[in-house]
Amino acid sequence: MSELETLERTLLADIDAAGDEGSIEAVRVGALGKKGSISELLKTLGTMTPEERQTRGAQINALKTTVADAITARKSALKDRAIAERLARETVDISLPVRSSPVERGRIHPISQIVDEITAIFGDMGFSIAEGPDIETDYYNFTALNFPEGHPAREMHDTFFFNEDEKGERKVLRTHTSPVQIRTMEAQDPPIRIIIPGKTYRQDSDATHSPMFHQVEGLVVDKSANVANMRWVLEEFCKAFFEVDQVTMRFRPSFFPFTEPSFEVDIQCDRSGPIVKFGEGTDWMEILGCGMVHPNVLRSGGLDPDEYQGFAWGMGLDRIAMLKYGMPDLRDFFNADVRWMNHYGFRPLDMPTLFGGLSA
Ligand code: DAH
Repeated sequence: MSELETLERTLLADIDAAGDEGSIEAVRVGALGKKGSISELLKTLGTMTPEERQTRGAQINALKTTVADAITARKSALKDRAIAERLARETVDISLPVRSSPVERGRIHPISQIVDEITAIFGDMGFSIAEGPDIETDYYNFTALNFPEGHPAREMHDTFFFNEDEKGERKVLRTHTSPVQIRTMEAQDPPIRIIIPGKTYRQDSDATHSPMFHQVEGLVVDKSANVANMRWVLEEFCKAFFEVDQVTMRFRPSFFPFTEPSFEVDIQCDRSGPIVKFGEGTDWMEILGCGMVHPNVLRSGGLDPDEYQGFAWGMGLDRIAMLKYGMPDLRDFFNADVRWMNHYGFRPLDMPTLFGGLSA
């Protein structure tokens, strides 16, 4: 067998054996590439006599054509095979159930739901929403709210302090939403009717406390706001929020630096079953703190306490969410566990309204 025939056999066998596009390309380069075996043979044509060139040249060119055609055919066969394999692998099972839309699957976090519910209730009473920064100055968080410097009430709050800045001032993560009372009084003239939902921070962590938690604050300032108005507002709120016709509330004397007089408010309930029931029963549960705005706080807000008076309250949102919706551990609120959200979350398009129902 001639040397050319042997080369042809070997190359055709290699082409046959190539199982993917990578190996067929390697055979091509080995034969027809710049330094490939056939290319090297073609280079010898120049050194031949014209007679030699006529016979041997034609043989080498025929070999080149045979091998090139074989490579092209093999390449296209491999491509077809790859497509066929992919088609077989990627079949669609059209008998599977249709996946629900994101709107169906998404859930509203119970805290967002509670904020929407509270906003709907107070919005209906003519309140608007005010907000302030989470990182507060010591002045807004304490001093302007009538906590004197070095007063023990500041310790009560287990404050997260930042390092001192260049001016020697230590910012804080706000321990309550009350600083927004001052910011609002500075920014707008009475009458003021606002609620302030937001994040608050204290160094505390267990099943019912988290270092970041939520409060909603309320503030009413005008020329005649009084304790009776406050009682009415808070009772209307509790009835709407707990979705009952009647509530009994108990106002106990208490102390907050920013109110005088101050009260803690309990709501009558029945705690004998697995879920707390409101509007009935013989137990009491504390739900908020409130009082008449202290004259010093009105002054901090730039208002004359001889002309204006007001009432305010503050309530922990996470705890009332736990009560209303029967969630046992506060830490689960912030674990970002989709299973928990699927169980306790709310449907995104069911916006709470007073006429449509808050948590229907
Ligand atoms: N800021 C208080 C706290 O975090 C709650 C509070 C009590 C707010 C009485 C008020 C109020 O506006 O009048 O404990």
